[in-house]
Amino acid sequence: MSSHVRILGIAGSLRRGSYNQAALRAAKLLVPENGEIDIFQLDGIPMFNEDDEKRPPSSVLELKKRIRRADALLIVTPEYNYSIPGVLKNAIDWACRPYGDSAWSGKAAAIMGASLGAIGTARAQSHLRQILAALNLFTLNQPEVVIADAAHRFDENSNLTHEPTKQLIRELLKNLVDWTRRISPAPESTSASSATARHPLSGDVPA
Ligand SMILES: Cc1cc2nc3c(=O)[nH]c(=O)nc-3n(C[C@H](O)[C@H](O)[C@H](O)COP(=O)(O)O)c2cc1C
Repeated sequence: MSSHVRILGIAGSLRRGSYNQAALRAAKLLVPENGEIDIFQLDGIPMFNEDDEKRPPSSVLELKKRIRRADALLIVTPEYNYSIPGVLKNAIDWACRPYGDSAWSGKAAAIMGASLGAIGTARAQSHLRQILAALNLFTLNQPEVVIADAAHRFDENSNLTHEPTKQLIRELLKNLVDWTRRISPAPESTSASSATARHPLSGDVPA
């Protein structure tokens, strides 16, 4: 890994005017100089079907390629019914399959989220942490960026205007860059052919 940390950002909402997409765009501007955020849009990812996992659609191949190219992930999740939205879980599931070919394993990750509610995706983020553990992603613990009452933290053009939240995102991204350097995965840890990639704890969980 070079000293420049490449972060792939994924937001779990397809909604025009999404607060989580807006938070991800804000993060792109708040990343430290020794990092950069590339954004992947989930719009083109179809519903997962295990029958198709060995011949996935091109959008899924592109997602896996972009994850592999990245040193770290930034996942920005809305909260739907106390958990993460199906659109995000669907993409996560595609990119961990087929067994032995997960794109996620061994990467550093950070999470954040925005919701209209008072506790700003805390419950969804808790579920997301559990899912990322199954994928053998190494998720940063702090700071927790839970953007509550999102309607009042972005302006009418979807720009994040709440300074304390911006500062928290800056801190999250600085910690993510430092964390990624500390765990900097060896290339073989993400390879389908390596022994660790086939171990259940690697994120390649068999059926
Ligand atoms: C199906 C559904 C379930 C929701 N459940 C929750 C919830 O459990 N907690 C919460 O804070 N907001 C909930 N919301 C409201 C979301 O916080 C709000 O729609 C938010 O704007 C979604 O993120 P986005 O702006 O990035 O699309 C829910 C919205 C939908 C559509």
